[in-house]
Amino acid sequence: MSHKKFDPSRAERLIAPERYQELKPDVILKHLGIAPGSTILDLGCGNGFFTFPAAVAMGEGMVIAADMSEEMLSLLRQRNTPDNIQILQVEEVKMDIEDDEVDAAVLIALYHEFKHPMENLAELKRTLKPGGKVLILDWDPQADKERGPAKVHRVAKDKAIKNLEAADFSVDSHENYTQDMWMIIAHSNT
Ligand SMILES: C[S@@+](CC[C@H](N)C(=O)[O-])C[C@H]1O[C@@H](n2cnc3c(N)ncnc32)[C@H](O)[C@@H]1O
Repeated sequence: MSHKKFDPSRAERLIAPERYQELKPDVILKHLGIAPGSTILDLGCGNGFFTFPAAVAMGEGMVIAADMSEEMLSLLRQRNTPDNIQILQVEEVKMDIEDDEVDAAVLIALYHEFKHPMENLAELKRTLKPGGKVLILDWDPQADKERGPAKVHRVAKDKAIKNLEAADFSVDSHENYTQDMWMIIAHSNT
């Protein structure tokens, strides 16, 4: 498994209007089907591409915006986060989140950066309530490389599905979400 970490000097492009138009956070939220008042974990949140729309959708609920990069979290802090965003610096695997605290988790353009994906999935499962959903959106190694991480760093959708199943998640749906990114929605079995 490769693990190229994102370069924070390129953070501005993550929150460009064209990216919002293409990845459609509102559609991602609809796919999750999660009620206002819930707790969403935005793991590998970066400078908050998904964090802000999720915070609006959660209303009285909470978004845990977690990232291992202090630099990315500092960019997020500079964007004046509302009270229902909790910013959390995490380790490569370990997260300071209680067992069963999270209703749903979203991982956008993160999975291919994991150094230890099975350990990350186990840690994620620990924080999710039984039946809690996870939505993973990441780069397709089979797509033409016009942008994004090098093909060698990407993870195939089938491989991610196998990893999820081995980590005791059930896959609810999977699709090619854009021309070069796949999406998997799964839930924790226990
Ligand atoms: C390509 S950026 C994507 C950021 C955001 N999800 C988005 O789509 O705009 C990947 C982010 O994941 C973070 N990251 C990488 N490995 C991580 C890990 N093991 N745990 C938490 N965050 C991680 C990086 O620091 C970076 O901010």
